[in-house]
Amino acid sequence: MSVIDTSCIVIFGASGDLTQRMLIPALYHLYVDQKLPKSFAILGVSRSIYSDQAFRSKLIKNIKSDKKINEELLNKFCEHLFYQAINTSDVNDYTLLKKRISRINADRELKNNTLFYLATPPSLYSVIPEHLAAVGLNEETDGWKRLVVEKPFGSDLKSAVSLDESLYRHFQEQQIYRIDHYLGKETVQNMLVLRFANSIFEPLWNGRYIDYVEVTGAEALGVEQRGGYYDGSGAMRDMLQNHLLQVIAMVAMEPPAVINAKSMRDEVVKVLQCLKPLSQDDLENNLVLGQYIQSQVRGKCLPAYREEEGVPNNSRTETYVGLKLFINNWRWDGVPFYLRTGKRLPTRVTEVVIHFKKTPHPVFSADAPENKLIIRIQPDEGIMLGFGLKEPGAGFDAKEVAMDFHYSDLKETELLTAYERLLLDLLKGDATLFARSDAVRACWDFVQPILDYQKKSFPLHGYASGTWGPIEAEKLLNRDNHEWR
Ligand code: NDP
Ligand code: BG6
Repeated sequence: MSVIDTSCIVIFGASGDLTQRMLIPALYHLYVDQKLPKSFAILGVSRSIYSDQAFRSKLIKNIKSDKKINEELLNKFCEHLFYQAINTSDVNDYTLLKKRISRINADRELKNNTLFYLATPPSLYSVIPEHLAAVGLNEETDGWKRLVVEKPFGSDLKSAVSLDESLYRHFQEQQIYRIDHYLGKETVQNMLVLRFANSIFEPLWNGRYIDYVEVTGAEALGVEQRGGYYDGSGAMRDMLQNHLLQVIAMVAMEPPAVINAKSMRDEVVKVLQCLKPLSQDDLENNLVLGQYIQSQVRGKCLPAYREEEGVPNNSRTETYVGLKLFINNWRWDGVPFYLRTGKRLPTRVTEVVIHFKKTPHPVFSADAPENKLIIRIQPDEGIMLGFGLKEPGAGFDAKEVAMDFHYSDLKETELLTAYERLLLDLLKGDATLFARSDAVRACWDFVQPILDYQKKSFPLHGYASGTWGPIEAEKLLNRDNHEWR
């Protein structure tokens, strides 16, 4: 049974996609696994009008798409769900909200612990905290009050700083939890265990033995129904500035003395602050921006990005980014990190590939296989170590073989989804896997020159759906005698 305190989870944006598709199903699974306290309440808040019952019915549909449904438990879970319609932008409505929370807490004998989850458009991220504070819902006199902010944390360095300033007017940093769901992924966390719980990898984990590092975040889907949002964001803000740079931090950070929110996030920020600032030469030569064009994939005509719903037909928003970067510190000096992310690539895969240097002298054959460690974040979560083995028969030629571990082999263990893990941590008040303000700023600091560069005229390369992006991204590595895996 869980040791989490009873609490009320207030979700703003409760009629929206994130709540329905991610948050409520994750809370249901935690409930089924008995990871939530016996008493808890979930109060959905948005402008649309629903009764509690109508809200429950709406949410159930999404949970029911899950094969592992247990009708009895689902009905019991629904008894914890409530709904309150308010105009989120109107401070007067927050008195009503406060009363509703008090009533739920009293009826269900909950302590006055409240988690405020902002699953709304970012334009409300400073409005809601201000209105909560106006009615004292930020005060921790009778229980904790936590504020959860979803990405994007600003749209550039300036807006990220001003978002922080507005949050800090009413909440302290230790009350604020910034969600980057990549940090909730088991395999992203496993990078730390792989590195710091095994003595065999860490001595090799530096520029003396590592030749280069690849990080890929590929998606097969296009922008689907999110064209309106995506066009103001692009791959740079949507994936690279947050998810991929957080992955880089896990690969490159120094070992924390212990795993807790402070030590861990101190190390994350240190390495992000060491990202080598991009020069004009880097922007022109080490950055590839692309956009998918209309193409035939397996006999089907897929629209160009510019033909997607909500996207202007002259859009210059990138759906692909390839980037070569360096980390200016003792461990990583001179080691290139190649990042790529894009929509409509051949498959959905997120992985890190560590390429080790060749042996100093080719004893067996000049083209002996390289050692590489592949950390598959998704799908088919696992780790593969590639190394050379003697080709059976005469002679001493080496061929590449692999030791391959798949998480699916751990049959008895079911991985928590990222949102399950992060919601659990939120309720426990464990901020280890949440982005701290200084880390978010370090990421914006690094990408800001790219955003500035994009304000002027810049090359945007078309690529066909189902390919690995613009040819220029291949050249980025080929130039250095490397290639993407
Ligand atoms: P939706 O557009 O689907 O939902 C927005 C929600 O906010 C609705 O419930 C809407 O309900 C409510 N809302 C309240 N006030 C306003 C207002 N003034 N204007 C518009 N909506 C308002 O968004 P998502 O659920 O997709 O995303 C929510 C947040 O989470 C966004 O910041 C997004 O960037 C972030 N996010 C989403 C992900 C996803 O997978 N969907 C993934 C990662 C982050 P009502 O109109 O009833 O008030
Ligand atoms: C979200 C982006 O943050 O991450 C989406 O807004 C992207 O555009 C998604 O598709 C990828 O997440 P995952 O977990 O599917 O790799």
